[in-house]
Amino acid sequence: MSVTPKGIPIILDLDPGHDDAIALLLALASPEVELLGVTTVYGNQTLEKTTANALRVLDLVGRDDMPVAPGADRPLVRDLTVASHVHGDSGLDGPVLAPPTRAALDERAVDFMDRTIAASDAPVTLVPTGPLTNVALLLERTGGANIDRIVLMGGAIAEGNMTPAAEFNIWADPEAAQAVFSSSIPTAMIGLDVTHQAVTTPAVIERLVATGQVGAFVADLVEFFSVYHRETYGWDGAPIHDAVAVAHLIRPGLVTTVHRNVEVELVSELCRGRTVVDLWRRTERDANADVGVALDTGGFFDLLVERIGRLA
Ligand code: RIB
Ligand code: CA
Repeated sequence: MSVTPKGIPIILDLDPGHDDAIALLLALASPEVELLGVTTVYGNQTLEKTTANALRVLDLVGRDDMPVAPGADRPLVRDLTVASHVHGDSGLDGPVLAPPTRAALDERAVDFMDRTIAASDAPVTLVPTGPLTNVALLLERTGGANIDRIVLMGGAIAEGNMTPAAEFNIWADPEAAQAVFSSSIPTAMIGLDVTHQAVTTPAVIERLVATGQVGAFVADLVEFFSVYHRETYGWDGAPIHDAVAVAHLIRPGLVTTVHRNVEVELVSELCRGRTVVDLWRRTERDANADVGVALDTGGFFDLLVERIGRLA
């Protein structure tokens, strides 16, 4: 009797957030990954709101079995800043979503991660798509035992989005990000250089809507998420940042990466949280990350539309 291979065991560490919500749906619809649980962190909104949003999205697709453990409500040492200017007061403005039908676990994210990773037969992949505070706290406790790799959405080789120099997830907690990049755990950095190649088009929206109810929900998310990006970049769509990190796991090859050194700026205020990527090997610093440099945009949206359609 053939046994269906189990997917890569993963934990999503989210700050939903419109694109986090889409990343969660993509993971739920993809047998290549086995979602062991969701942990939440402040970022796009407060921890209370990002946690409620994770629960609401899981309710939408009937996954009230999926554990959600709340984590850090503020950075390690920096002041809390939330991205309400992008994601709205709820953190998931736009579509109408009922309040959560259940509470999150009465277990903190780091405890959930520690317990779940230790209990896994196979090494676990962490997929953080918000500030890296929870991951840094876990690594401080466990040293990264039984973690296969970290595939994070964050950083940028080129320009930032929170400041000219830095991308929001890294900017929000630069000390946590530096702890991750210096951890020696195999790490993929899915930064703005590739996620800004994952901007929806009206044709993609039409394809999503045609897949059914969940596709229509994703389209509503994108409609709101596009407001900020139209005003800022003039785009007729929104970059689905976090889903690119999940897609990188599901379909290797969609994202082209190079193995380079990444360091995080901690001292400068002007360049706080900049990921300094030694793209052309100008230093002797050892490579510590697989940095995304290109995306098969068509392949990414083909995958996203097909998988969202499975949730219809
Ligand atoms: O800079 C984009 C990242 O910041 C995305 O993960 C978005 O959800 C926000 O967390
Ligand atoms: Ca996010």
